[in-house]
Amino acid sequence: MLKNSQHSYGWITITMHWLQATTILFMFGLGLYMVDLTYYDPWYRGSLQLHKSIGILLMVLWIIMIVWKNLNPRLKPEPAPKHELLAAKAMHWALYLTILSLLITGYLISTADGRSIAVFDLFEVPALPKLIENQESVIGDIHEILAFTLMGFVGLHFLAALKHHFINKDRTLRRLIKPQV
Ligand code: HEM
Ligand code: HEM
Repeated sequence: MLKNSQHSYGWITITMHWLQATTILFMFGLGLYMVDLTYYDPWYRGSLQLHKSIGILLMVLWIIMIVWKNLNPRLKPEPAPKHELLAAKAMHWALYLTILSLLITGYLISTADGRSIAVFDLFEVPALPKLIENQESVIGDIHEILAFTLMGFVGLHFLAALKHHFINKDRTLRRLIKPQV
């Protein structure tokens, strides 16, 4: 089953969810690691380049995920009280929007000096004209706050998934691991 049904995610959503999750966790670790390197560290340029390249690919994945979600039937949630369904919906929105904001701020830091972003020597993403004074450091601070905020949301999201699996014993997590019939 590649597409989602009303009752379960299909392989395409499942693959994209876990690819996005592992890449984002890796990007968070890489981000913290690279900003601690000095300019003369042999890995300084390489790690920054890797962070930017993966970041642009994540942007492509983000767009594909949103398009794919809208091409598929809407999933019926597992039975839960109304406030929990609302909280889950709010959390998914929060995750999508925080990720999008991280991708946009990352782009704005990287292109603040007018230079385009080379994505693994595959293609280049052009820069926009500078938007604000001190763009690199102002947006850099916002990017950092967003990254930590995202990790907070992911932590709650992770706990919610465990609660569904171990306490409610429903299929919420199982259907994101393997399509359920
Ligand atoms: C960086 C890490 C992660 C991100 C950014 C993320 C993001 C998301 C998003 C945006 C959705 C909504 C999908 C939709 O629109 O239908 C979702 C669903 C889900 N995620 Fe994650 N996720 C992450 C990690 C995890 C982890 C570690 C787990 C479990 C251990 C998990 C379990 C789930 C489950 C069970 C759903 C389905 C919820 C439902 O059907 O209502 N996620 N995730
Ligand atoms: C979900 C995606 C992303 C995550 C989780 C993430 C995470 C981080 C983290 C944790 C830092 C270190 C912040 C600090 O301590 O100052 C950082 C810095 C940085 N990120 Fe990202 N990032 C993401 C996407 C992007 C993208 C798409 C780009 C560019 C295309 C980008 C470009 C940068 C740059 C240039 C820095 C260095 C900022 C500075 O020197 O202050 N990031 N990122």
